[in-house]
Amino acid sequence: MKAGGAGSAADFIPPRPTLGSLRAAAAGCRGCGLWRNATQTVFGEGPSGARLVLVGEQPGDQEDRAGRPFIGPSGRLLDEALTEAGIDRSAVYVTNAVKHFKFVRQEPTRRRLHKKPSAGEVRACRPWLEEEIRLVRPALVVALGSTAAQALLGTDFRVTRERGRVVVSDWAGPVLATVHPSAVLRAPDDAREAERRSFVRDLAQVASWLQANSGRRVGERPDGRAPAPRSGRSRARRG
Ligand code: URA
Ligand code: SF4
Repeated sequence: MKAGGAGSAADFIPPRPTLGSLRAAAAGCRGCGLWRNATQTVFGEGPSGARLVLVGEQPGDQEDRAGRPFIGPSGRLLDEALTEAGIDRSAVYVTNAVKHFKFVRQEPTRRRLHKKPSAGEVRACRPWLEEEIRLVRPALVVALGSTAAQALLGTDFRVTRERGRVVVSDWAGPVLATVHPSAVLRAPDDAREAERRSFVRDLAQVASWLQANSGRRVGERPDGRAPAPRSGRSRARRG
C-alpha cells in the first residue's frame, strides 16, 4: 500500500500486465471496501484490439452474480441500442468504472438495490480502467453516465451539457459521453421513448465518428499527435 493514503487498485496491478493477467489480479482486488459485500469482481470483456471501449458505472445485481458486465436489464437495452446504431457489441470492449457491485439491502424483500459509488471508490478502482484502456488502445471510449464520464474526464464534467460530442481525456484519448442505459429505463413512461432515441442518436454519432476516423492509428489523437506516453499506472491526470 502507498504511504500516507488509503489503498487503491494500483496496489494489485501486476508487473507488465496483459488483459488476462489484469483480470486474474482484479479477482483478488481489495483496493476499497466494495469487495466485502459483493459476489465477485466484474472485469471488462471483449476483444483486446477493439476500436471502441464502453465504460459503465458498476456491475448491477445480475452482473454481480454472473461475473460479466451489462448482462442485466441495462445490458439488454444497451444491446438493442447498439444494434440500432449499427454497432456490433461483439467487437466492443465493455467495462465499468467500478468493478464491484455496491448495493443496499431492501427489507423485507432482501432485494439488493444499486447504490452509487463514492468519488473515493471510483478513484480507488480507476487503475483497472486505466490499464484496460492502455492495453486495448481504442480509437474512442464511450462513457455511459456521469460516473464513467467523471472517471474519464474529471469531476467537473457534466454529461447533460456535453453529451454526444467527442472530447479528449488527457489519459484516455477521445471520449464521447452519453447517458447510462438505466436512465432510459428509469425515465417516466411518457418520456422513455424520447430518451431511448436520444441514446441511440448518441451511439449513432459514435458509429459515424469511428467510420470517419477509420484510418487513424489506434491510440492516435484526433489532433494527429502521437499518443501521450503513459507514465505510471496510477498517475493519470484529470481531464
Ligand atoms: N450498469 C452498469 O453500469 N454496468 C453494468 O455492467 C451493469 C449495469
Ligand atoms: Fe478493487 Fe475496484 Fe473492487 Fe474496490 S471496487 S475492491 S478498487 S476492484
